[in-house]
Amino acid sequence: MQVGVIGTGHVGLVTAAVLAELGHDVVGYDADPGRRARLQLGQPWFHEPGLAELVGRGMAEGRLAFRGSIEQAVARADVVFVCVGTPGRADGRPDLLAVEAAARAVARHALPGTVVVEKSTVLAGTARRVQRVIELERGALDAIDVVSNPEFLREGRAVADALRPDRILVGAESHRGFAVMRGLYAEQVAAGVPLIETDLATAELSKHACNAFLALKISYANALAELCERAGADVVDVTRVMGADPRIGPEFLGAGIGYGGSCFPKDLAAFQRLSASLGYDFGLLAEVDRINRDAVDRVVRKVVDVLWNVPGKRVALLGLAFKPDTDDIRFSPALAVAARLVEEGAEVVGYDPLVGDAARDAVPGLEVVADPHAALRGAHCAVVCTACPEVAALDLVRVRDEMRHAIVVDGRNVLDPTAAARAGVVLFPTGRPRTQELVGA
Ligand code: UGA
Repeated sequence: MQVGVIGTGHVGLVTAAVLAELGHDVVGYDADPGRRARLQLGQPWFHEPGLAELVGRGMAEGRLAFRGSIEQAVARADVVFVCVGTPGRADGRPDLLAVEAAARAVARHALPGTVVVEKSTVLAGTARRVQRVIELERGALDAIDVVSNPEFLREGRAVADALRPDRILVGAESHRGFAVMRGLYAEQVAAGVPLIETDLATAELSKHACNAFLALKISYANALAELCERAGADVVDVTRVMGADPRIGPEFLGAGIGYGGSCFPKDLAAFQRLSASLGYDFGLLAEVDRINRDAVDRVVRKVVDVLWNVPGKRVALLGLAFKPDTDDIRFSPALAVAARLVEEGAEVVGYDPLVGDAARDAVPGLEVVADPHAALRGAHCAVVCTACPEVAALDLVRVRDEMRHAIVVDGRNVLDPTAAARAGVVLFPTGRPRTQELVGA
């Protein structure tokens, strides 16, 4: 099929590359000229494992191209994906201006019978509005079907997630809408991927329901971590016990400094706003958010307690991205920790294997280095903020020798407490006994 993709962010670019890999002819468009220029050279503008190879192959085999106007992306398309950003506004509602602008542009340039797919995460009810905008814009021209097809890929694993999704969700209200989407995903469905078909509002709401539930699981683990610290219990074991129950499952029970990224914080706020606008007080979501903020407070409190007088003390932050395998720092809890410690007067130096200057620009006063040992050298305390493999693999004896005081606050529970104790590193994990308590010192 001929596919147009508007917006080449983390979702749009992966969608474009994967649809090309599935054999469709895909034309992508992004409003940002800098991103477009890089993509036209076959270079993704953000880090995502396996994406550069997929983009390169799609372009080399003539199934993937990036063009300079929406018209070129849409003109011959059977299906147009709207993957533009929906940033959160101060009041929690998502900003849907770009969605409306894309819908108007598609309405002007699309062939009759084109199916417009809403891929961006939007509030329930948005697809109907998009449909209305398109009808108004096209006037007497043939109608266009609008379909909701939320994306469940995770950054850092986006290519694998999109090639072999655990489900494909399609919301539509026309036979044509369903039929075109079945054709588009025929190969994956034939390979056994479940296709769930619903009405538009159900598909839209399901996406928020999933992200909010995953955030809830993380906050549940973080509340348990707080309780475990007070009770002298070990949250890693508690969540392992919970996760062994197939009704609960082991994933997303990792206690630490909380969730971040461009999805969970924004989607939780949007879901709360949606509920409120529909007259339902979904108070549980406010509590999930409160526990998440508290996770950052808790780690900052630990560091401040360790340092006693903070001004002038050097703190190494290990990991700056919102999670491993990405250079994305949007709503990264690591940067929230950095900003708080800078505010307290600490000399804060951060290391991340993928994040560079962007972190420095985001937190004035934060020094960023490309080598973990440069961050650790002379530090009075280190904080593990992201569970990067490079951090988990650190030689703790070397860490002890490099730091001024070998004290590590493990905000992701990636370091082995016994190995830390043996190396002489004082470890403050999250929701687990401290190392001295483990070795009985
Ligand atoms: C999330 C969802 O997992 C995807 O299914 C969804 O498609 C995506 O949002 C989206 O809406 O676009 P993503 O934001 O890439 O994906 O990252 P996650 O892997 O979900 O992690 C989110 C945050 O939760 C990270 O900060 C991570 O460190 C944190 N986390 C995750 C924990 O603190 N504990 C855990 O056990 C798991």
